[in-house]
Amino acid sequence: MPETNSRMTVTASADPAVATPAEVADLRRAAVALARTAADHVRARRPEVFATATGAQRDAVQSKSTPTDPVTIVDTESEELIRALLSRSRPADSVLGEEGGGTLGADPDATVWVVDPIDGTVNFMYGIPAYAVSVAAMRDGRSLAGAVVDVAGGVTYSAGLGAGATATGPDGVTVTLRCTDVRSIEMTLLATGFGYGAARRARQGRLIAEVLPHVRDIRRIGSAALDLCMVAAGRVDAHYEHGLNTWDWAAGGLIAAEAGARLVLPPAGTVARTGELVVAAAPGIADQLIDLFDRLGVSDPIPD
Ligand code: IPD
Ligand code: CA
Repeated sequence: MPETNSRMTVTASADPAVATPAEVADLRRAAVALARTAADHVRARRPEVFATATGAQRDAVQSKSTPTDPVTIVDTESEELIRALLSRSRPADSVLGEEGGGTLGADPDATVWVVDPIDGTVNFMYGIPAYAVSVAAMRDGRSLAGAVVDVAGGVTYSAGLGAGATATGPDGVTVTLRCTDVRSIEMTLLATGFGYGAARRARQGRLIAEVLPHVRDIRRIGSAALDLCMVAAGRVDAHYEHGLNTWDWAAGGLIAAEAGARLVLPPAGTVARTGELVVAAAPGIADQLIDLFDRLGVSDPIPD
């Protein structure tokens, strides 16, 4: 069962009062099907949208929170596709999505689908093969099931609460995910990311300069959802970032936890503006990393 610490809120152990194992399995199958369908659409649309003239590229990309925070026409299409599929297959459920909005609601028994239609939109625009579709089923602020599909790599990561985490490659082979057994902070490969606002980035830059001498190295992949899956798959030892939105971690956080990671998460529904810290760490270095973050001031939020 995933371990917890005092700041962790989403990956408590499986609780039949919240969902039975059969229900978790059903939600996981649905999350996988939704994320795969949207990923197929994103994969097909990229050459149509970006392999053409620069004028078409300009039309396909708009800005959101800052001029460097993009949304493409394909982000919007991917989320609309997932919403349409859900409204047919699960009309009683609601959706919180990066592009279309929504809330987690107040009903603890309601299922809310938390959707990032393309995580790693900047990579998607530039053709860097690290972008994903992320779909999670949450209830009462807790992820019950989730899927993250690495669009370019054709890998489906998924997990169910209390049911473990797996990755299925383009060849159809499925493997069980486990974090690394790293035990020292000096040997920790640490993934991170930066927000879109200049002030937060300046602070994040100062903090990563403080962290860097203590770890093996850092990686900035450009998709928080994939970073969390990489923690699960043992391809990095830990991930941290300030100011993620719930849709960035709702599926990937569960996948990491079910692969053995320790998580630090803000309450579900917390928005990027408040700048709270998310951490997923292999169990052998989690305490050391959290202590280091406490000492260096990384544990404090970086509000906008
Ligand atoms: C972003 C990515 C990135 C992270 C940013 C996120 P988006 O999501 O996950 O790695 O550093 O904070 O906003 O904008 O590509 O969906
Ligand atoms: Ca995102």
